[in-house]
Amino acid sequence: MLRPTRAKRPAPSASLSLLVHSLRTRRRSWIILLAGLVALVVYGRSGSRRAGLSAHEASQLERRGVRFDRERDDEVGVVFPPLPKLQDRDRLWPPDLSKPICRPKIYVYDLPPSLRLAQKTVSQCRWSAYNSELLLHQLLVRPPSSEHPSPDHPYLSLYTSNPDEADFFFVPLFPACYLFDCWVKAGWTKTERCNVDEGYIQPVMRHIRETTPYWNRSAGADHLIPHPMDYVDGYYTETSRVAMNGSSYLVAVGDVRPAPYGSHFRFYRDVVIPSATHLLNSYYVNPLDYIDEEGHPLREPRGAADPRRKTQAVPTGVEIFQPSPQAAGAWRRKPFFRSLASKLMGGEDVERDRRTTLAIFRGGVGTATDGQRYALGIRSLFFPSEGDASEPPFSSTSHPGFSSLPGFDIAEQSENDDYARRLARTKFGLAPPGYTLDTTRIYEYLAFGVVPVFIGSGPTAGQVMPFANDVDWSSFSISIPRDRAHETPRILAQLSDEEHERLRLKVWEVGRMVVLEGREGNVWKLIARQLCRMKRLGVAAGPEIANN
Ligand SMILES: *[C@@H]1O[C@H](CO)[C@@H](O)[C@H](O)[C@H]1NC(C)=O
Ligand SMILES: *[C@@H]1O[C@H](CO)[C@@H](O)[C@H](O)[C@H]1NC(C)=O
Repeated sequence: MLRPTRAKRPAPSASLSLLVHSLRTRRRSWIILLAGLVALVVYGRSGSRRAGLSAHEASQLERRGVRFDRERDDEVGVVFPPLPKLQDRDRLWPPDLSKPICRPKIYVYDLPPSLRLAQKTVSQCRWSAYNSELLLHQLLVRPPSSEHPSPDHPYLSLYTSNPDEADFFFVPLFPACYLFDCWVKAGWTKTERCNVDEGYIQPVMRHIRETTPYWNRSAGADHLIPHPMDYVDGYYTETSRVAMNGSSYLVAVGDVRPAPYGSHFRFYRDVVIPSATHLLNSYYVNPLDYIDEEGHPLREPRGAADPRRKTQAVPTGVEIFQPSPQAAGAWRRKPFFRSLASKLMGGEDVERDRRTTLAIFRGGVGTATDGQRYALGIRSLFFPSEGDASEPPFSSTSHPGFSSLPGFDIAEQSENDDYARRLARTKFGLAPPGYTLDTTRIYEYLAFGVVPVFIGSGPTAGQVMPFANDVDWSSFSISIPRDRAHETPRILAQLSDEEHERLRLKVWEVGRMVVLEGREGNVWKLIARQLCRMKRLGVAAGPEIANN
């Protein structure tokens, strides 16, 4: 045996020659030993440092098939296999929205002319966010104007003129429009009511209760009444509220904060709908005149981008996702020509089709007397402040405002066409609260493919979003709590382009469905899902019951 032993310890020079000899004669054993040592060191370092595991634990895991990714030193280090796709898609939420839960039939009362809103009032309301109640009514009772309407159009799929086959009853009572018109006439004295209770709500409700059997049958439980104002039915007298109370309200503000906010929204009974917006539903500014069918900005907006449309545009309905006919230069948007053009222009064309502004906001900061009531103080961060809390933007500290930052397009207002052009080129839309958590700008963002950034509002701030049972708002928006509002620029700057693109695609695919429009009538489809749940239609327990 050439191996040195304790008993017969060789001199240093002798052990060196022994080592050399052994290296020569037992090369294989040495190589194996060295390789083993190296492996142990590498395993020990990578495995334990990255996954918090000892070399021993790591090798145990490897034996069970766990692979360590040695390239990604900064991360967990363990790569688990992705789960295979589920065969049964219906086990997942959010649901496939193209599959209805049930197909409820909705009857719409036809009120005698004396109980209908005056045409003047309706025309006035068309310019308010409460317009949503008129649009929802129109979508149900008017045959679609297009030649090849979607079979899902609410008139074709939900409306019935036969009350005996109806599952639900829509009451064409529009008190928000009545009040809007009243307040315009009263110079915005919001305590004015113009006899809305005895002169409008109560006669309509009496008519419905007394001339048809349907209300009494369920004490109104299968009746729908629109209330798209912030305080829902809180504007009316006790008598009016009792008269409507049995029904479900279609409300624009779902707010579960403590009173006074949450005291009006009846979580267990009401359906949250989107607001109408000035830009989309009053001026009929059509997003598809500014962005293409994939939601990317057009190099030049189409012909209909005309600021005169307020006075000249004919209210044609609510088809806001129908591109205007004057599609000047449409050939340039065809993928073939676009890629050709971009080759010829050295990529310049592609460059100009991208969203280059990081964040946009158009809106005010309230008044000096609003205090915390307005926007929870959040908008005070948006504009430059001298640190005087009594002056706009009502901030007690001095700061340059988000508006000073590159990539932030923040101003109190814009002309409609200008705003639309800017929306088309912006990645994120800031959505702080106003007087309420809900602001109509969210729907403008969604319609223009802009990713909403809720700041102290939205699904994590006590706001019940429209159709939250079916639509995963978190998949196409960002939520920043109020106490991190000041970090908004940093949070947005840190989002990668890939993350933005992921959110943007979801805005385009799902978020856009909650915008009030008339071609598909998606909003009614989503309301219908909620109605199915109310009557447990199509949701009865199946054969399988899970206990854990
Ligand atoms: C429904 O009930 C109310 C009283 O609760 C009554 O005045 C009304 O006539 C009833 N409607 C019908 C159609 O019977
Ligand atoms: C409305 O109905 C609920 C019960 O569903 C009741 O508790 C409440 O007092 C009613 N409110 C009014 C104003 O009638």
